[in-house]
This record gives sequence, structure tokens and C-alpha cells, in this order.
Amino acid sequence: MTAKTVKLTTEGGDFSYPLMEGSVGPDVIDIRKLYGETDKFTYDPGFTSTASCQSAITYIDGDQGILLHRGYPIDQLAEQSNFMEVAYLLLHGDLPKKKELEEFSYTISRHTMLHEQLATFYRGFRRDAHPMAIMCGVVGALSAFYHDSTDITDPQQRLIASHRLIAKMPTIAAMAFKYSIGQPFLYPQNNLSYTGNFLRMTFGVPAEPYEVNPIIEKAMDRIFILHADHEQNASTSTVRLAGSSGANPFACIAAGIACLWGPAHGGANEAALNMLREIGDVKHIKEYVARAKDKNDPFRLMGFGHRVYKNYDPRAKVMQQTAEAVLKELKVSDPVLDVARELEHIALNDDYFIEKKLYPNVDFYSGIILNAIGFPTEMFTALFALARTVGWVAQWNEMISDPEQKIGRPRQLYVGATQRDYVAVSKR
Ligand code: SDX
Repeated sequence: MTAKTVKLTTEGGDFSYPLMEGSVGPDVIDIRKLYGETDKFTYDPGFTSTASCQSAITYIDGDQGILLHRGYPIDQLAEQSNFMEVAYLLLHGDLPKKKELEEFSYTISRHTMLHEQLATFYRGFRRDAHPMAIMCGVVGALSAFYHDSTDITDPQQRLIASHRLIAKMPTIAAMAFKYSIGQPFLYPQNNLSYTGNFLRMTFGVPAEPYEVNPIIEKAMDRIFILHADHEQNASTSTVRLAGSSGANPFACIAAGIACLWGPAHGGANEAALNMLREIGDVKHIKEYVARAKDKNDPFRLMGFGHRVYKNYDPRAKVMQQTAEAVLKELKVSDPVLDVARELEHIALNDDYFIEKKLYPNVDFYSGIILNAIGFPTEMFTALFALARTVGWVAQWNEMISDPEQKIGRPRQLYVGATQRDYVAVSKR
């Protein structure tokens, strides 16, 4: 069967480029030879139509609202799996057998402690530093402590660095929270689950035993699953680009954390809850929806819209169900949930949102649950970074092992001054 190609006609002649087919989803046009043959670049700010790599980790169908991790639908994983098992799946490609999962969980639990000197890094920050500022700083600093796992050409070192990052993120995030409230750090307690360990380090105190609430543990674990990976989003692409230069894994993940912080990306969960609180009451919703539609108003509905999903984000659906369940279990009523439900109802019946295919995304309901569990809004994106580290690490490993991988180096359409001679300041 002849390979499928696409033709390009230019003033300099006709060219054809191979079509590459994936296992599912859009074909891609292999344009690697385009510039050499046509002396032309493609132009795609924001990479709306650009595949940056081949990947077998996560598949998203934005029109159908489908999200698969190594082929498994996110709602099945959220319902039936747990975060450690999803981490194994993302890293290794298949669901683990019982013994494989036990060994993986044991290995991760053996890396949960931080080098003791890293605790002093926190003292350098103001108490009111944003937790994401601390996460960027401390995660980047890991490369100064774990030199024995920074050689990216050594598969064993890549594996140890991957385990260290997955294992230490909960400890680092919990310490950021403790530091912000002036409470002492708690060391990990490895007889607890990954998520239970995190909850104890966050909400426990040395003065008394901490009992992990199984309802909260399950909800938190599910929230980690929903945030674990998401194809080539902005922060994952940042990790891949940083990694393509050969930077060590700790520096790459710190770059991903920095990108995730933005309110258009992972920072939207904090922004969404702040927005819902600002709206305050269902009677103000129409005014905010009008602002979101007003081209002259920079206001956007945070937690709404997505570059890929032009249908309901499947994670948002699970998140909404979890929010209802957690608030009911905790006997917490939060008026913000009523505002969120009504805002969603109004927006999804408004022509502007229907025409632009804007639906709630993963960040719309997550803040309501995290707030009910007891996290301050500034911690929300740090929790997103904690969970997404698994996806970043899986994607980074896939990139390093990709034989087609080379340093990422996009070009540009230059619109600046053409060459001109220097003029001495006396003559300007
Ligand atoms: C995440 O990529 C990922 O996978 C990300 C993520 C992951 O798991 O990694 O899913 C996590 O980042 C989710 C998104 C969280 N961000 C927000 O909730 C912030 C609010 N949403 C937007 O800013 C926006 O929807 C983006 C950034 C998410 C997507 O932006 P795009 O794809 O660049 O689309 P766009 O900005 O070009 O918007 C298309 C149109 C525009 O109107 P026109 O210029 O065509 O007239 O829709 C409008 C926008 O003005 N629009 C909105 C809107 N989002 C888009 N209008 C009002 N409210 C919004 N939220």
C-alpha cells in the first residue's frame, strides 16, 4: 500500500509530504523537510495545529470529551483505580500486577523524605510566599542534592530521579503549607498510603496523632488521578522542551511547575474559586457572564474553556460528582457550590458559550472540594503540580527514549527592522 502524502503547491514548485497515522486521532503531516525544500516555515502561534512529538501516554478527543491514559478511560480510572496504580500505568504503559504495584509503592515510599538541609531552604522565604514560588525553588534545588540521578543518559539514574520526584512532591508541598502557617514540618510516615501520607504531613501536628479520614483520602486520591497527565499541555511541553536540551530532570520539572502556575493553565483552579467567591450569590451571575462575553472586558470565566475540549471536560464531570459527595460526607454546605452549579447552567445555555464551545474544565469544581478539605486557595496549584509530576516524569522519560527526539528549536516570522547601520549618539 503506497504511503499517503499531501501535496503543497508553491511558486517554487510542487512538493509532497508524508501523512503519518497514529493508533487513533488526527493524522499528522510530516513537514520536517519543508524548510529545506521550500525555504518556508509554518506559522502556528500557540501550536493550535502542531504535533510536537509522538506519544503513547495520553489520548484526548476534544470533540467527544474523551481522555484515555494508556488506553484506559479517565472515568474508569477515577472510579476503580488509585493514584499509585495510575502513576505506574503512566510510567510503564500497563496496569501493574499486584506484586508489581506493591514493589512500585514500596519504592516510592522509600523516597518520600527530603535531604535534611532542604528544610532550611524554606526559612529563606517569607511566610506569605506563594506555595508555587516555593515549589519552583525547592524542586529546582533538588538537582543540588541528588547528583547521583542527574545523568539522563543512564536509564537507572532516570528511573531513580523519576521515583524521587514522584515521592518527594507531597513532602515538598506539605512543607510549603506548614511553613505558610508557622507550624512544624512533619516527616513522612510510610505505613500510610501515598495520599494518606500527604494528608498527614499537611494537616497533622506533632502534638497529637493524626487519623486519615478515608473519605477525604479517597477524594484526594481521585483528584490526583484527574490531574495526573493531559497530553502535550503547556507545562508538559515546557518539561519536554527543557529536557530536550539535556537539562537534568529536577530542573525540567521545576520549569513545568513555573509554567503550570499561570492562571490560563494550572493557576485557574485558584482563580476559579476566587471568581466564584467574588460572584458570591447566584443573583450576580448574569453580570459576570455579561462581562465574560464583553470583548472590551479582560474578564474570563475561570475554569471554563479549553484549547482541546470543545465538549465537556470528562474530568470536570467526575470532579463535580466528587464535590457533591465530599461536601455531603463532610456535612459541609458551601454556597459557592450553588453559584458554580447555577453559573454552569446559565453559561451552557448561553449562545456565546455554546457557539465558542466553552465548557467547565478540570479547574472549575476542584477548588470547591479542596476548600472543603481545608486547603487555602494558594495551595490549589501546588496540588495540581504534585499530581501532574507523574505525567511530566512519564512524558520526560518518553521524550528521552524517543530516537527521533532532538533539541526543540522553533523558528519565527521576523517582522522587525531590516539591517541598518549604527548611528553615533551625537548624530541621532
Ligand atoms: C488547564 O492544555 C491542557 O490540557 C490544560 C489542562 C491540563 O490538564 O493540563 O487541561 C489544564 O489549563 C485547563 C484550562 C484552565 N484555564 C482556565 O480555565 C482559564 C479560562 N480559560 C481560558 O483562558 C481559555 O479557555 C483557555 C486558555 C483555557 C484556552 O484558550 P484558547 O484555546 O487559546 O482559546 P482562546 O483564548 O482563543 O478562546 C477562544 C474564544 C475567544 O473568543 P474570540 O477571540 O474567538 O472572540 O473563546 C473565548 C475567547 O475570548 N474564551 C472565553 C473563555 N475561554 C475562551 N471567554 C470567556 N471565558 C472563558 N473562560
